[in-house]
Amino acid sequence: MKIAVVYWSSTGNTESMAQAVAEGAKKAGAETELFTATEFGGDKMDGFDAVAFGCPAMGAEELEDTEFAPMFEGCEGKLSGKKIALFGSYGWGDGEWMRTWEETCQSKGANLVCDSVICQETPDEDALDACRKLGEALV
Ligand SMILES: Cc1cc2nc3c(=O)[nH]c(=O)nc-3n(C[C@H](O)[C@H](O)[C@H](O)COP(=O)(O)O)c2cc1C
Repeated sequence: MKIAVVYWSSTGNTESMAQAVAEGAKKAGAETELFTATEFGGDKMDGFDAVAFGCPAMGAEELEDTEFAPMFEGCEGKLSGKKIALFGSYGWGDGEWMRTWEETCQSKGANLVCDSVICQETPDEDALDACRKLGEALV
């Protein structure tokens, strides 16, 4: 079982979440690799049984648009039937960016294996625990 955890983070919040997701997946026995957005792409999707994607709310309730969104668009054609989970940090919004992102994944046929994990700004221990569980759910 191979799992990729792919994230973008500017101030480290989503990065902390990604590390907890990877920790959970490893603990559940999966071979787990952590990638930043620029290190991943659609060509890598076939090499993993499941992928966790993490991106904070940026723009106006959007995915980060210079690195993460183009990378993710490149993965969309490979989402069908794939075990996927989403996570990310936000600031002042109500999580709209994550709902939109979930809809995109569903429209591409992704198998969203668990509820997405979102947290406001820096993840607290509860949020990190939810991230570890998300990692476990992918295995
Ligand atoms: C340019 C920019 C745009 C943002 N847009 C939103 C937004 O639309 N909604 C929201 O809830 N938070 C927004 N935020 C807040 C970030 O999502 C929040 O600070 C998050 O914790 C950053 O995660 P990171 O540390 O992984 O980069 C924005 C932050 C920046 C810098």
